[in-house]
Amino acid sequence: MPIIPVLYSNKFNELVLLKCLFLLVALVGCSPPGEPVKCSTKDSNCTVTNSYGAFPDRTVCRAGNVVYPISEQESVSILSAATEVQRKIKVVTHFSHSIPKLVCPDGQDGLLISTKNLNRVVKINLTAMTMTVESGVTLRQLINEAAKAGLALPYAPYWWGLTIGGLLGTGAHGSSLWEKGSSVHDYVVEMRIVSPAKAEDGYAKVWVLNESDKDLNAAKFSLGVLGVISQVTLKLQSLFKRSITYVMKDDTDLGDKVVTFGKLHEFADIFWYPSQRKVAYRIDDRVPVNVSGSGVYYFTPFRSTLSSVLSVIRSVEETQESLRDTEGKCLNAKLVTSTLQSSAYGLTDNGVIFTGYPVIGFHHRLQSSGTCLDSHKDSLITACPWDPRIKGEFFHQTTFSIDLSVVKSFIQDVQKLVSMDPKSLCGLELYNGIVMRYVKASTAYLGKQEDAIAFDITYYRSKDPMAPRLYQDVLEEIEQMALFKYNALPHWGKNRNLVFDGVMKRYKNGGEFLKVKNKYDPWGLFSSEWTDQVLGLRNGVTVLKEGCALEGVCVCSQDVHCAPRKGYLCKPGKIFLDARVCARVNTKN
Ligand SMILES: Cc1cc2nc3c(=O)[nH]c(=O)nc-3n(C[C@H](O)[C@H](O)[C@H](O)COP(=O)(O)OP(=O)(O)OC[C@H]3O[C@@H](n4cnc5c(N)ncnc54)[C@H](O)[C@@H]3O)c2cc1C
Ligand SMILES: *[C@@H]1O[C@H](CO)[C@@H](O)[C@H](O)[C@H]1NC(C)=O
Ligand SMILES: *[C@@H]1O[C@H](CO)[C@@H](O)[C@H](O)[C@H]1NC(C)=O
Ligand SMILES: *[C@@H]1O[C@H](CO)[C@@H](O)[C@H](O)[C@H]1NC(C)=O
Ligand SMILES: *[C@@H]1O[C@H](CO)[C@@H](O)[C@H](O)[C@H]1NC(C)=O
Repeated sequence: MPIIPVLYSNKFNELVLLKCLFLLVALVGCSPPGEPVKCSTKDSNCTVTNSYGAFPDRTVCRAGNVVYPISEQESVSILSAATEVQRKIKVVTHFSHSIPKLVCPDGQDGLLISTKNLNRVVKINLTAMTMTVESGVTLRQLINEAAKAGLALPYAPYWWGLTIGGLLGTGAHGSSLWEKGSSVHDYVVEMRIVSPAKAEDGYAKVWVLNESDKDLNAAKFSLGVLGVISQVTLKLQSLFKRSITYVMKDDTDLGDKVVTFGKLHEFADIFWYPSQRKVAYRIDDRVPVNVSGSGVYYFTPFRSTLSSVLSVIRSVEETQESLRDTEGKCLNAKLVTSTLQSSAYGLTDNGVIFTGYPVIGFHHRLQSSGTCLDSHKDSLITACPWDPRIKGEFFHQTTFSIDLSVVKSFIQDVQKLVSMDPKSLCGLELYNGIVMRYVKASTAYLGKQEDAIAFDITYYRSKDPMAPRLYQDVLEEIEQMALFKYNALPHWGKNRNLVFDGVMKRYKNGGEFLKVKNKYDPWGLFSSEWTDQVLGLRNGVTVLKEGCALEGVCVCSQDVHCAPRKGYLCKPGKIFLDARVCARVNTKN
């Protein structure tokens, strides 16, 4: 999860708040981040990217044109025309928040079908407690519309800007070991998908899948390769209240506590600051609706931030990287975490101030946020911290889940690495440390195989793909240890390329998924070179070339895959000896 490193003091936050109030008072129109699709002539000759403006391997993706259907019927006729001429197709969402290049159609002339205008709530059934929405509806809309009807999606990602189609596509989740767990796909009871079909069926077909249809296990987490999801019906609950308290502890017994903690609190999660040897435990449970409290959680890192501030923060980080200023990074990391901690990470009693824990409020005002989506339109005075149109955050994310049965051992291995090099992970603490969330085994073919903890690790990325980063070796060792020693499963909407290499072998129903893919899209029109690679249908997720390990395009096997001229050579890991990492030699780290 990306984070604004709040340098120096709380003042910046206050400034940001003032700015937003000013904008509101001045009645200046507010609008979200940039569009992922840009076309040179109206809706044709396009490029497509993600909300960060860069894929992990920095590919630039092109498409012939983009269309914006407003109904399922329109999607059917668009798809029918495209199938007839066997065009490559991808569904693109309003903001395109996934990091990997899932959104890229092959070649130059692919078709992009945008769900930007498929954004209506279709139906709410209070008896069944279900809600049916079009696939381009954002999480923010979904949460708000459900709440108006007295309903709640119990577990969800923490960021408003995702669409239901996209978040299902990559298996997005919140944090819980209760009920069916925190993955949104496990609350899908019905879906409508428009897929390619034979000429005699008019080249396009609408599939309606409910829980009694096994294909739903593929469709509810599909990487977008089955067709256009047009509608989704989710099982909801009555709206409820929660009580949240963050408690900071040292991390010595984290490995021992982590499983019990997750079972004890319904919405538990953890921010781990491994170099500070600290952990923020989120104690978060349901409370009866008559308990008083009107808490609101606008997570600080997802708030609108002054571009000028972001630019200063980025410059400081770049300077620290180039001067190898570990001390500076550790000092700033402490500042960031203590600032976030003392401001309760953005949690407030009422939307304005925080006076102390616990904060109690309605679920829909606590479960997820993203006020930076309302940043000022064209001026870019404020923005989401990672908006590529300004000089701001630029990072990699390594995110994977590790089964509860072995997670203690993984945590202890990371702690061993830190004890050998205590300051090595200050850099990721600038991004609020390692975010740990609980996820349960799923019936989705690409879902979690066992109950697990998802780890989100966010860290500095240089604008220069050939530049190594501080403690590159430690970050790489953690990544490879998770994957190859602990058989971690990736978050499909994040990560660098190497994480997906051979990953399908870890899914017991991977073969079932591929069968369903062939049934719905026999010509592979919704597939691309990238999806074929990650699904194990062709090689090439990782590519060996100069400097490839620096951006996670490969695991190094020769020095040239690192940055030998800058002193980074390919070496074995320190704890996980099978790892091959780019380590700095000669000089002390
Ligand atoms: C700030 C931020 C916070 C995040 N927080 C979380 C979090 O808390 N938990 C979590 O799990 N993840 C989180 N993520 C990751 C996020 O869940 C995924 O990247 C998600 O897939 C993005 O959704 P999107 O709507 O932007 O979809 P996109 O990235 O645009 O699309 C994802 C895939 O789904 C396909 N797709 C989209 N819509 C359809 C459709 N209608 N029919 C067929 N295919 C479709 C696309 O083609 C693509 O393959 C976060 C990301 C960001 C940027
Ligand atoms: C397509 O766009 C590119 C720039 O993105 C431009 O160089 C090229 O001339 C355009 N082609 C057509 C046919 O418009
Ligand atoms: C609502 O759900 C109930 C129970 O499943 C069902 O009987 C009823 O027909 C549904 N109503 C509508 C309008 O779909
Ligand atoms: C699921 O779909 C099948 C076939 O379309 C239908 O017969 C059945 O009644 C549906 N089940 C539910 C629970 O809606
Ligand atoms: C809430 O309601 C329950 C009964 O529904 C009651 O027992 C309890 O005392 C009430 N609590 C408060 C804080 O009003």
